[in-house]
Amino acid sequence: MPVITCIEDLRQLARKRVPRAFYDYADSGSYTECTYRANADDLAAIKLRQRVAINVDNRSTRSTLLGQEVSMPVAIAPTGLTGMQWADGEILGAQAAEQFGIPFTLSTMSICSIEDVAAATTKPFWFQLYVMRDREFIADLIQRAKAARCSALVLTLDLQILGQRHKDLKNGMTVPLRPTVANLLDLASKPAWALRMLGARRRTFGNLAGHVKDAAGINSLARWTARQFDPTLSWKDVEWIKQQWGGKLIMKGILDPEDARIAASCGADAIVVSNHGGRQLDGALSSIAALPAIVEAVGDRTEVLFDGGVRSGQDVLKALALGARGAMIGRAFLYGLGAMGRPGVDAALGIIQRELDVSMALTGTRTIDEIGPNILIRP
Ligand code: FNR
Repeated sequence: MPVITCIEDLRQLARKRVPRAFYDYADSGSYTECTYRANADDLAAIKLRQRVAINVDNRSTRSTLLGQEVSMPVAIAPTGLTGMQWADGEILGAQAAEQFGIPFTLSTMSICSIEDVAAATTKPFWFQLYVMRDREFIADLIQRAKAARCSALVLTLDLQILGQRHKDLKNGMTVPLRPTVANLLDLASKPAWALRMLGARRRTFGNLAGHVKDAAGINSLARWTARQFDPTLSWKDVEWIKQQWGGKLIMKGILDPEDARIAASCGADAIVVSNHGGRQLDGALSSIAALPAIVEAVGDRTEVLFDGGVRSGQDVLKALALGARGAMIGRAFLYGLGAMGRPGVDAALGIIQRELDVSMALTGTRTIDEIGPNILIRP
């Protein structure tokens, strides 16, 4: 068993253990992937101020997100097909987050359903909603999230139309996986994954069953998304969804200060500054580059969360220093899951918290509230 010390170790292991089509689905961005790369590169370019001889004993990474106490200001981001990285991945992720004391977000496009995850956990999780053309279906999903006592609805606004990921098309990425020669040869080299999947609670999109006729065999995710997702989505729909939901509403996929202002006036309890992990508009700003102007525009009116490129506790610290209330992690979670299942998710969360804690100490901060722009070196 290799020694795991960082998120990159988990990524390498996941790459060996997860079928190539599903690993590539997670580890890629749209088109040229320049925004995908910029998310991590721009975080790496930010420099922290090293401080010395400051008493940093008794540190704590505890904080609150939307009024909920958390062991660190990090939440697991919604990721589709999580149950394809490891059988029942959504349940494992939700249970790990619950034990760690941070929020887990279940995607509309998850394999395990809202009800599966609710039955396997004791604390509320967040549910992420995509807006589809069929509004009855949306209303029903919202009711199911309410019935499952989800504590926040994460409304994703940056996917009216799907950005193309070349690898998905080249790999013939489908659910279930299309049995091409390449896919079958690849699966043969990953028998443990296949065996676990035979015993999985579900092997297709749990939230869509019964509502969408072709859900059992979404042959081309891109074609299906084009048919179902609603390109007419507008702020009027956001207001309708807010009424239907009636609880805490997080608007995800905001990258422009103008949109952030509108989201705040529509009553967002929080927004997530995000470019969907570089999977949508290729050429858009990195999330971290977009963050400061958005904090300036709405930071006093709504909680500003951040995601995109977070692979370490240092990255979380930088986002907090630039005004984010918390960070969401997508791939860092998926790499842990694909590498080792539940222990891999535990490892990913532990690594990020320990790195955050040590980096806080080395910048002379003891609590999350003390973190501010003064710990950064201004270019
Ligand atoms: C995502 N993301 C995403 N977002 C969302 O709102 N609903 C979804 O179903 C998905 N699905 C999804 C699948 C995969 C494989 C990835 C990598 C991402 C975007 C996700 O919530 C988040 O914004 C990014 O993952 C953040 O970037 P990092 O942390 O992955 O770099």
